[in-house]
Amino acid sequence: MALFITFEGGEGSGKSFQAGEWHQRLSRQATPVLLTHEPGGTPLGDEVSHWLKWQDGMEVSPLTELLLFNAARSQLLDKVIRPNLAAGKTVICDRFADSTTVYQGYGRGLAQSVVKTVNDAATQGIKPDLTILLHISVADGLSRKKSELADRFEKEDVAFHERVRQGYLKLAAGEPGRWLVVNANQPRKKIAETIWENVGRLLPHRGA
Ligand code: TMP
Repeated sequence: MALFITFEGGEGSGKSFQAGEWHQRLSRQATPVLLTHEPGGTPLGDEVSHWLKWQDGMEVSPLTELLLFNAARSQLLDKVIRPNLAAGKTVICDRFADSTTVYQGYGRGLAQSVVKTVNDAATQGIKPDLTILLHISVADGLSRKKSELADRFEKEDVAFHERVRQGYLKLAAGEPGRWLVVNANQPRKKIAETIWENVGRLLPHRGA
């Protein structure tokens, strides 16, 4: 069974490491699996991502941001996610539409109805089977980042990141069957084991 699994979390939560770890574990047990990420994951998406993260001097309206993230997402869906799921591969995605709900919705303050409409247009019914939230306090997460290398989002103030953190918890509480919330303030290997223990049972061939 091809699963669509997403990893979510605020800055410094370590979700990219955990997504990679999962990819390795599933590959070792010969599960057909593909790892991708947002924003980006296609040549077009990588351009959009670079622009969104690093165009410092230019003001970007929240609605423009919403549309650009979803333009990149639409391309990723069409070129990568949908074909791989159709070919029977488990797809792991480091961030997906929930990132938009919390960053552009809760973080930037766009109406959730607008965010949902645009997200739905891009995702066209593709929804994760499982979403792993690496939960960490804003202070702990940001302290793991090097401030001189901060992108546009990492440079946002603590209140923005706190809205993002709270937004994630709301989403997880609203759909407990899809979300697994993991305390990200632990050693990486321990987090990986916790995720594996809780989610591994849903996988077709356990036992890496
Ligand atoms: P990352 O590569 O550190 O995950 O950076 C992506 C940044 O983009 C991160 O700060 C979250 C932000 N983002 C959004 O604001 N909306 C989105 O839809 C996505 C996918 C990412």
